[in-house]
Amino acid sequence: MSNADSKVERPLFVALFAGVGCFLLSFVAMGLAPWTTLSSGLEAPPGMKDPYHDENGELTAAGRGRKIYMSEACWHCHSQFVRPVANEPWRYGPKSEAWEAMFDVPNTYGTRRIGPDLAREAGRRTDDWHFAHLLDPRSTVPRSVMPPYPWLFDRGPDGKPQPGEKAKDLVAYLQSLGSAFKQQVEDQVYPREIRITGSPVPSDLLKERGAELYAHHCVGCHGENHDGVGRAADFLKPSAANLNTRYLPRGEVYRVLYQGVRGSAMPSYHDMGERQLWALAQYVSDLGQPVRAAARVDRADVLARGREIYSKRCASCHGEFGEVPQAMLNMRPAPKDLRTRLYDTDYLIGVVRMGRPGTGMVPTMGLSAEEEKDLAAYVRSMFKENVHDR
Ligand code: HEC
Ligand code: HEC
Ligand code: HEC
Repeated sequence: MSNADSKVERPLFVALFAGVGCFLLSFVAMGLAPWTTLSSGLEAPPGMKDPYHDENGELTAAGRGRKIYMSEACWHCHSQFVRPVANEPWRYGPKSEAWEAMFDVPNTYGTRRIGPDLAREAGRRTDDWHFAHLLDPRSTVPRSVMPPYPWLFDRGPDGKPQPGEKAKDLVAYLQSLGSAFKQQVEDQVYPREIRITGSPVPSDLLKERGAELYAHHCVGCHGENHDGVGRAADFLKPSAANLNTRYLPRGEVYRVLYQGVRGSAMPSYHDMGERQLWALAQYVSDLGQPVRAAARVDRADVLARGREIYSKRCASCHGEFGEVPQAMLNMRPAPKDLRTRLYDTDYLIGVVRMGRPGTGMVPTMGLSAEEEKDLAAYVRSMFKENVHDR
C-alpha cells in the first residue's frame, strides 16, 4: 500500500464517519429521544371530546372558527405550541402536550411567530377584548402590527360594526385553545400575589415617563382624555374605567396594573417591570387629584342615613366596611374594595343608578335623589388613604 492511498483514504474515512456519525446522532436526538417522551404525553385526560364536532358530527362554533383561522392564514404569524425551552412556559403557560393536537387535522402548529403563540389563549383574554382586537388590533394594543379583520364583522342598525357570526366563531375557537389549562393560565396571567421591592420617590420625570407609557399601552381603551372612551370603547363590557372620576392611591394603581382585572378586558402588566409600573401608577393616580381635592367630611346624620342604605343594598357584595367578602371575590369582575378608591359624587350616583353593564354591579332601584346623595356621601367616607400601604 502506497503512501498516496492512505492520504486519500483518511479524509474519506473522516467524511464517512462524520456523515454516518451525524446521522446517528440526529436520529437518536431527534427521532428516538422525542419518541420516548412522546409516549408519556399521548394519554388524553379521560372524557376528552372532539371540541370541533358535536354528537351529530356537525361543526361546533369552535370548529367553524378553526376553519376561519386556517382560511384567514392566522398561522402565518401565530404558532400553537409551547416548547419546554427558552422560558416559554413562563411566557405562555404549561408546555404543549402531544394529545392536545389529536383533533387538529390538519394541524395548526405554524412555524412563524410574528405574533405570540396562541396555544394557551383560553383564560388569557375576555371575548370583548378579542372582538375589539380583531376589528382593530391597535385599539387594544396601540403598537400592534397585526392586520385588522373588518370583514368578520356585521354592520349594526347604527351603522357601527358589531361581531358577526364569523367573529363569534373565531373567538370561540381562540377561547378553546388550551382549555384544559385555562385555570392555570388565568392564574399565571392575572397573578394573585404582587411583587414590589420598593417604590421610587414621585418626580416629574417619572410622571413624564408614565404619560409616554400611557400613550403606548392604554389610550386604545382608556382614551386620550382618560375618560374610558378610546377606539375599543364600543366593544368593551364592562367599559374601560373613566380615570378622571376616581382617585386611586399610587399603590392601588400599581396593584391593578400588576394583577389586571379578571373578567374584564383590563390586561395585567406584571411583566412590564417595576419602574415602569410605578411611572404609570403615578401618572394615573395624579389624574384623580381633583377628585381627592374635593374630599370633605359630611355631617354625621347624612353619613348615618347613607350607612343604613349601604348596609341594606350594597354590603352583601362590597362588605359591611368595604372589605369585599371572600365568596364575592370569585365574581368576574369582583366587586371593588370601596376603601381603596375615592369616587366623584356624580359618577358614584350614576353607577348606583345604571350599574356597570357586563358585570354583577346591577342598577339599584327605588332610591330617591336625597337617598342617593346620602349613600354617595357614605361611600366616599369609606375611603382611607393607606389601606394597603406600599
Ligand atoms: C402579520 C402577522 C399577523 C397575522 C396575519 C395575525 N396576527 Fe395576531 N398578532 C400579531 C401580532 C404582532 C400580535 C401581538 C400584538 C397584538 O396583540 O396585537 C398578535 C396578537 C394576537 C392575539 C393576542 C394574543 C394575546 O393574548 O396577547 C390574538 C388572539 C391574535 N393575534 C389572533 C389572530 C388571529 C385569529 C388572526 C387571524 C384572523 C391573526 N391573529 C393574524 C400578528 C399577526
Ligand atoms: C384592552 C383594554 C384596556 C387596556 C389596554 C387598558 N385598560 Fe385599564 N381598564 C380596562 C377596563 C375594561 C377596565 C374596567 C375594569 C372593571 O370595570 O373592573 C379598566 C380599569 C382600569 C383601572 C381602574 C380599575 C379600578 O379598579 O378602579 C385603571 C387604574 C386602569 N384600567 C389603568 C390602565 C392603564 C394605566 C393602562 C395602560 C398600561 C390600561 N388600563 C390599559 C381596559 C383596558
Ligand atoms: C350583586 C353584587 C353587588 C351589589 C349588591 C352592589 N355592587 Fe357595586 N359592584 C359589584 C361588582 C361586581 C362591581 C365591579 C364592577 C366593575 O368591575 O366595573 C361593583 C362595582 C362598584 C363600583 C365601582 C364602579 C367603577 O367604575 O369602578 C362602585 C362605586 C359600586 N360598585 C358601588 C355600589 C353601591 C353604592 C352599591 C349599593 C347601592 C353596590 N355597589 C351594590 C357588585 C355589587
